[in-house]
Amino acid sequence: METDLNQFIRNEAFRDKIVSAEEAASWIEDGMSLGMSGFTLFGEPKEFPRALAERGKQEKFKVNLYTGASMGPAADQAMAEAGIINLRLPYQGNPVLRGKINSGEAFYIDQHLSHTAEWIRQGVLPAIDYAIIEAAAITEDGQIIPTGSVGNSPIFVQTAKHVIIELNTSAPREYEGMHDIYVPGPAGERKDIPVYDISKRIGTKGIPVDPAKVRGIVLSSQPDIPSPLFEPNAETQQIADNLLEFLRAEVKAGRLTESLAPLQSGVGSVANAVLNGMKTSEFRDIVVASEVLQDGIFDLIDAGVVKFAAATALSLSKKRVETLGQDLAKYKDKLVFRPQEISNHPEVIRRLGIISFNTALEVDIYGNVNSTHVGGTRMMNGIGGSGDFARNARITIFVTSSTAKEGKVSSIVPFVSHVDHTNHDVDVIVTEQGYADLRGLAPVQAAVKIIENCMHPDFREQAYEYFNEARARGGHTPHVLQKAFSWHTALAETGTMRKD
Ligand code: COA
Repeated sequence: METDLNQFIRNEAFRDKIVSAEEAASWIEDGMSLGMSGFTLFGEPKEFPRALAERGKQEKFKVNLYTGASMGPAADQAMAEAGIINLRLPYQGNPVLRGKINSGEAFYIDQHLSHTAEWIRQGVLPAIDYAIIEAAAITEDGQIIPTGSVGNSPIFVQTAKHVIIELNTSAPREYEGMHDIYVPGPAGERKDIPVYDISKRIGTKGIPVDPAKVRGIVLSSQPDIPSPLFEPNAETQQIADNLLEFLRAEVKAGRLTESLAPLQSGVGSVANAVLNGMKTSEFRDIVVASEVLQDGIFDLIDAGVVKFAAATALSLSKKRVETLGQDLAKYKDKLVFRPQEISNHPEVIRRLGIISFNTALEVDIYGNVNSTHVGGTRMMNGIGGSGDFARNARITIFVTSSTAKEGKVSSIVPFVSHVDHTNHDVDVIVTEQGYADLRGLAPVQAAVKIIENCMHPDFREQAYEYFNEARARGGHTPHVLQKAFSWHTALAETGTMRKD
């Protein structure tokens, strides 16, 4: 056993620090702030949060939980069930935690994912008492090798009073060498972030840590947590086809070549369908500069469509988790993982000229986008990295089905019930009906394009009714304010936005 562990803990100063998850959990006091590794379920510690949640069932205490992004069963779910989360940031996607947030039992700061590290650096948030970081190994020179995500772990380790490492002995050894850790200096003093070519490394292979700061090492052997696999259906496939048609039109217009521009894609069903559609497309040698890499990335590399991919995390289905070690070995020279403040950094996104596509919950006739709040009030997941990319990309695309809830809801409405991305940041909207390229259009021109090209035919007539009444009143972005949310109120009162 000891010989084995020496392969994982390769620096002597760390070897006498192994403790049980229960002991590490017992160090946490009411009101503390925890910075935990993890991003879209990958890289999440498993033993420590479960032990903390168990303790939370017996004792009354609450903590603030900062992470990279969404966490799974061990952290967000178990800790929310135990009622021990006071404040959560910057992103979540767990139904139990979502319920607690929407019922007011947990506070939530829904934040651009590149901003958290800046807030921590500036001391805006309560300081981190413990960083809890899942590791694949600790190197000879005392660096923590992360597992399937980097997220905010470097800034957590840098600023935390204490560090707990959860060493996962089942994590593929191939993780080592796949990360590129770079932490910018304080705002106002830093130089440029030297990502000019995403395949060129700019940092260290692990997260440097002072052994004196590491209070304990918890052992775990649980595999990465899979995400659901989204097989394309007729609707998501149609959205994907329409998006690809837009990209082809850009190539035809001479603004892009068949290697496009570095590509960022959101996660979920439509993103997967787009990547799927690209597999058999004419596009070649694309660079992916994203936040999360999903299953499809491996096939795209095999097909010669993608030549290199950078992100801050993996998010894979069960099938892909099972073959992860082999896949990482095979694709090691084609992938790199950086902190989320680098993958999502406005400077880097603008410099690389990224094409970004993310999913909207609803869009309005002028192109404003709601990605987060159902009915304007209830949190779904959060803005995630969509705003980081939307504001700074070379082309910003939002995709959505034109209707939701069996056609009772139009995802295109007179006025979005919550704004995450203003129409200034939105270039193209894609639904299964078609795409609307809003670049170069004034708001009233954009409205006609969105209604004609993207809206479901069943809602077009009532959309024109609203739009024409608004236009008759005048204004640059015409509205009938008394009726701007009439579709949402109709839904709340009658169960449908349909007028007929
Ligand atoms: N009004 C009300 N509900 C709506 C709706 C609308 N206009 N559009 C969708 N919904 C509901 C769906 O019915 C579904 O409900 P359910 O959970 O009860 O089945 C739910 O919202 C999710 O919709 P779905 O179609 O399954 O979409 P998705 O899984 O692709 O997720 C977002 C869509 C917007 C929730 C998701 O992409 C997200 O959280 N985005 C923000 C963060 C982001 O963009 N991250 C990537 C950045 S790198």
